[in-house]
Amino acid sequence: MSSHTFSRKSQTVPLINTRNRLIQTEIPCKGTYDVLERLDKYESRSMHGQLPLVWDSASNFNIFDASGNKFIDFTSAIFFSNVGHSNKRVLDYMNIALEKPIMGCYAYGNEIRAQYLEKLIEFAGPTFEKAFLMSAGTEATEAAFKLMRMNGQEKKKRKLGIIAFENNWHGRTLAAQMMSGNPKQKEWVGYHDENIHHLKFPYPWALKKESGESFFNAQLKSLNDFGIDPSKDICGMILETFQGWGAIFYPPDFVQAAEDYCKKNDVLMTFDEMQSGFGRTGKAFGYEHYDVKPDLLCLGKGMGNGYPISGVVGSKEVMDLPEIGNMSSTHSANPLGCSAGMAVIDEIIECNLIDESHRKGLILHKGLNKIKDNSNGLISDVLGKGMIASILFQDPQKRTPESKVPSEISEKCMQSGLLVVHTGRESIKIGPPLNISDEALLEGISIINEIVGEYL
Ligand SMILES: Cc1ncc(COP(=O)(O)O)c(C=O)c1O
Repeated sequence: MSSHTFSRKSQTVPLINTRNRLIQTEIPCKGTYDVLERLDKYESRSMHGQLPLVWDSASNFNIFDASGNKFIDFTSAIFFSNVGHSNKRVLDYMNIALEKPIMGCYAYGNEIRAQYLEKLIEFAGPTFEKAFLMSAGTEATEAAFKLMRMNGQEKKKRKLGIIAFENNWHGRTLAAQMMSGNPKQKEWVGYHDENIHHLKFPYPWALKKESGESFFNAQLKSLNDFGIDPSKDICGMILETFQGWGAIFYPPDFVQAAEDYCKKNDVLMTFDEMQSGFGRTGKAFGYEHYDVKPDLLCLGKGMGNGYPISGVVGSKEVMDLPEIGNMSSTHSANPLGCSAGMAVIDEIIECNLIDESHRKGLILHKGLNKIKDNSNGLISDVLGKGMIASILFQDPQKRTPESKVPSEISEKCMQSGLLVVHTGRESIKIGPPLNISDEALLEGISIINEIVGEYL
């Protein structure tokens, strides 16, 4: 998060009343300051830095504050409300689970867990046979790290090397943080695991005219310079399906070359699908854009639509590597989480949300690209696929990344009744619930257009 701080003081803003938005008081509304000050007092500051909106309730693609102001949500909170906030089916399934007096049963058998796993595996597709369920996304990437290394031991690898990519991000626990590619964020670890190797990410601006395949192969070869033999010393590779802060996808031939290397060398290929799963990119899972077959998927966020449930899915052979008891957790897969997860999959299928995400994604990207084309160079790129997008800002003269303007624009959007994801970098990210109406989607895009226009 950047050092940009947003004003918590209520400000008079134009009143708005449309079908999708209502701004009827000062923004932030009365009471916001007090709640945020109390949070500052009692909660680690590491949780803070978001736009000053105190969520009172959220429903479908709208967020409400305590004064009844109604915002269009272009964030899905942080890309988890794929089937819409307080989705009726999710609440119904959870209510049914709540009617039975059981809040959890650890790893003892449970009917709802059995039903959910069956559904999840079917939804994940034929390559995936078993899952392990947890609560947080970072636990899922930790579990994948463990499985990749256990598989490396099984395959008698000389070293248990993991390939990850610069600036990708996988979570905040130890292995997840070490696999993440931001050196500053992991200074606290105090050492670098010499068997985790970060290769360069194929940014569109880094590739220039080089193919993704040749970029990947050159990166792989560079490991030799450090005495690492990619065929003997690597047991796994983890890719964030797209690089989070900028919704940056890899060129497909880069990922296909990576898959080819993995398959030929007994290296498990893992996709961290935290943001990209459950329909977000216009496919069930984002890896499908690359026409590859990963060994492991790390899932979370949209999996429970707000209820904390995460998971790893893979083949029977890999998922059964840990001994009995070696990969379980107290709150793994409790009946409420499994009910939420089951409702998410049913809702995605019954409301055709994967196709809808693709269709609405085209509307979103067309609208944002038009804003870019009229931005006199203030916007350098619009990236992403389906219902995930990023707008990258630059200094139009110097062509260097610009992070102050997107922070200001995010705040102005909020004052106009639209919440976007403030990344603290040169990007604004957008990921509305997949069931947002076309009207609200277009309304949100036009608000961004208007506010960007103030900077031209
Ligand atoms: C790509 C990716 N991996 C892992 C995580 C960690 O998930 P969680 O915050 O649920 O631990 C996130 C969360 O933002 C993420 O975006």
